[in-house]
Amino acid sequence: MGNNLGFESTDTFLVEERVFSPSSDTVENANIMQYMKSKGFTDYDAFHKWSLEHRFEYWDDLAKELHWFEPWQTTFEWTTKPFFKWFSGGKFNPVYNCLDRYMETPTRHKVAFYWEGDDGSTRTLTYEDLYVLTNRFAKGLQNVGVQKGDRVAIYMPAIPEQIAAVLAVARLGAIHTVVFGGFAASALRDRIIDSQVKVVITADGNYRGGKHIELKKITDEAVAETPTVEKVVVVKRLGTNVAMTAGRDVFLDDLLADVPADTVVPCEPMDSEDILYILYTSGSTGKPKGVVHTVGGYSVGVYATTKFVFDIKESDIFWCTADVGWVTGHSYIIYGPLMNGATGVLFEGTPTYPAPDRFWSIVERFKVTIIYTSPTAIRGLMRFGEEWPAKHDLSSLRLLGTVGEPINPEAWMWYRKNIGHDKLPIMDTWWQTETGSIMISPTPIMPLKPGSATKPLPTIDTDVVDKNGVTVGSERGGFLIVRHPWPSLMRTIYGDPARYQTYWDTIPDVYFAGDAATIDKDGYLRIQGRVDDVIKVSGHRLGSMEIESSLVSHPAVAEVAAIGKPDELKGEHVKVFVILKNGFEPSDELAKELKLHVRATVGPLAVPDELEFTPSLPKTRSGKIMRRVIRAKELGQPVGDTSTLDG
Ligand code: WTA
Repeated sequence: MGNNLGFESTDTFLVEERVFSPSSDTVENANIMQYMKSKGFTDYDAFHKWSLEHRFEYWDDLAKELHWFEPWQTTFEWTTKPFFKWFSGGKFNPVYNCLDRYMETPTRHKVAFYWEGDDGSTRTLTYEDLYVLTNRFAKGLQNVGVQKGDRVAIYMPAIPEQIAAVLAVARLGAIHTVVFGGFAASALRDRIIDSQVKVVITADGNYRGGKHIELKKITDEAVAETPTVEKVVVVKRLGTNVAMTAGRDVFLDDLLADVPADTVVPCEPMDSEDILYILYTSGSTGKPKGVVHTVGGYSVGVYATTKFVFDIKESDIFWCTADVGWVTGHSYIIYGPLMNGATGVLFEGTPTYPAPDRFWSIVERFKVTIIYTSPTAIRGLMRFGEEWPAKHDLSSLRLLGTVGEPINPEAWMWYRKNIGHDKLPIMDTWWQTETGSIMISPTPIMPLKPGSATKPLPTIDTDVVDKNGVTVGSERGGFLIVRHPWPSLMRTIYGDPARYQTYWDTIPDVYFAGDAATIDKDGYLRIQGRVDDVIKVSGHRLGSMEIESSLVSHPAVAEVAAIGKPDELKGEHVKVFVILKNGFEPSDELAKELKLHVRATVGPLAVPDELEFTPSLPKTRSGKIMRRVIRAKELGQPVGDTSTLDG
């Protein structure tokens, strides 16, 4: 994988000794406790040990809570290691479990989503409303030729039609690939090309922090260079005039004009191992990886983790603040909550617009009971002071969550004090696009330590090891690994199975996806961050190589190295070192132009905060830039093994 396992330091966090125990009420009523008791346990560690020996029983139990058109024959099998299957032989469709199965129950009239736009407008959709919209959408897609197995790209803002688009595609047994609305045209184009997308669903534009984003224009730019796209479906969000290419582009309104409200497009009964979606994420090469998730295993994984980690109850109002363009949105805005029959909140805007109490105002108005957000959002809001959350009645909340990056104990304590009023449990959830669902996290029954994601969920067999796979023991740093596949683990990288294999080859025979961790004497894990060339900016994954390839495509640039540097607010920010071509001189203007170039080719997230012109970069004898050495020097850390360094 060309990955440099240069992890050496273990002192990213001060070890936080405070422990917060859950109330006996919370423990008694927790969904996980009900399950544990059914197996004869009340102690989590003992139960977890049992689950490692009975992982198929556990997953069978959870899978049986969902509707299968036909039951599976084999719970788990290796095909050719490291490729595997879960629930093979089963026929399933997650959308049936998200919508159809409630149509004969009271959930039909329950709110599926409270939606709030950036501009303050609101919509409320019951499960029935979402069912109707999804069925009509599915019919419309069928009418433009979408069939089982086709790839459909979704490049949209957070509006109810985005959710319906995802569900409509999955209903037909087609494969969705959602692209985050903040990505630039070339990033969208590359993803469309890689998965040979047939239909793109977008919007005329959207509002973000009071500004207009012209999504259709960006889509046009991308689609101009993608031979496979036959149709572009455009949802009206702004109602602005957008250019429509005759024969290719169609407004959703027109597509659905003749589709009656009682239209039902039956859910396609999919094989458990059929592809549900492809979601692109950054790795250590310039090309994003199309992570493949399947129908059966993924669904069971997100269903179970939503139930046990967020402890969803009938009366909950669950707000995951992520964007559907990231895996968190797929799993915990759409599939997990809907399969649990929960009421969700969908928000189009940003935490600070029009004021830094937007989040807390939403919590108060919709009586949110569970909020799931990122450490970056918490740190960002912390900066504005305690008076902003204090303005709102947050008493509806009962559980808090975070995801996407390590949470520093200070931010954890602020969250607990100001949002959780010194009593609510915080679920610090560790997982990845590849893992599909939460892997390491407390459940509400666990004593908590600030800055620790605590312990692995049932059946998840994690360890902290050295590069040969040997356990390093407590209080020492090492690589975080998982020993056995679980249902929601990706099946492959789309079109590139060799790249999937590297996850199991880097450290022999175990799943390794690039994080370092420490484990304390109580078995509590602290995730330290990435040890490969992935940079986490505000919890979003960026590849060093993606930023570098963007910059070398600029005429002035000869060579570049991009690294992540610790950032108080964003977790990490990007710094680039640039060698200019002969004939170009360093200047502030050029630096500005280069940053704009990254914005235009990758997207605003990837724009470097720091740019340094340099005459040379440390390289290996074979000419590979040693980012690890550059980073260590930049941070004043020991450079480590430089035996392959040139000169
Ligand atoms: C990081 C996001 C520390 C980690 C769901 C991982 C975390 C990467 C946590 C995956 C956490 C995620 N504590 N680090 N609770 N959650 N990470 O694919 O480095 O966007 O490998 O998935 O985020 O990022 P991805």
